[in-house]
Amino acid sequence: MSSPTQAPCAPARTDARAANHDHAADPRFQPDPLFDAAERDAVYRAIHTRRDVRGEFLPDPIPDEVLARVLTAAHHAPSVGFMQPWDFVVVRSREVRAKIHADFLAAHAEAEQMFDEGKRATYRNLKLEGILESPVNICITCDRSRHGPVVIGRTHIGAMDVYSAVCAVQNLWLAARAENLGVGWVSILHPQALREALGIPREIVPIAYLCVGYVRDFHARPELEAAGWLKRMPLPELLHFDAWQGQPDAAGERLIDAIAQTRAPAR
Ligand SMILES: Cc1cc2nc3c(=O)[nH]c(=O)nc-3n(C[C@H](O)[C@H](O)[C@H](O)COP(=O)(O)O)c2cc1C
Repeated sequence: MSSPTQAPCAPARTDARAANHDHAADPRFQPDPLFDAAERDAVYRAIHTRRDVRGEFLPDPIPDEVLARVLTAAHHAPSVGFMQPWDFVVVRSREVRAKIHADFLAAHAEAEQMFDEGKRATYRNLKLEGILESPVNICITCDRSRHGPVVIGRTHIGAMDVYSAVCAVQNLWLAARAENLGVGWVSILHPQALREALGIPREIVPIAYLCVGYVRDFHARPELEAAGWLKRMPLPELLHFDAWQGQPDAAGERLIDAIAQTRAPAR
């Protein structure tokens, strides 16, 4: 597959700052801090080829060492005040998954009624979960009171712990892609039903219910894009300079040009 990284493809950074410092001798720093071009491209490939997987799961078991790497990657996400507010409920039980799937069906039927009539039939026909087809489901939660009420960095924006748990989700999702595992996030669930099915206490917030497994294929594009639901928005339309709706100066225009030259992600 062709590389999904930026064009023109600059060599990986080998600047003097890193090169001149004797990293190997100073245990405070990473001895080998720079990514080479192949490593960089591999990271971008994981990012651009990650998909939300629903209908392509295979029942094949996930080796423990693979699942261990993926969970370890999730646990190494950034978190506000190093709070690590997450827990991971690994669900293999068919009975538990069947309960959650039954709740999905109920929530999905309710959700259908929330869309305009014109979109309802399209919504109904979208495959939006792989709870039973995937061999492992993982619920990532957030313990909002972990390490006490005052957390460095969460003193003024209270949701930072929840955002941290979402960082764990993204780490897991990208690591899974690098392991050739698909992940599908299922959010069409009643939170209380999810709590009950998994025995999650009241003070713990379920953040993400993820279906994980090997797949027949990874879709080239987001399925909602392919189904004509929504398109990927042009990045330049989402850029603001120095303030909301601020216009680009010369440096901003150069950045917009560079974005235009950036190769589309691998399809
Ligand atoms: C917070 C969140 C919740 C989501 N919930 C669902 C869901 O309930 N069912 C589903 O099929 N996809 C769900 N998705 C996946 C999105 O539909 C998907 O990420 C988006 O369409 C882009 O596709 P891609 O992930 O394949 O690039 C969710 C994604 C996020 C980030």
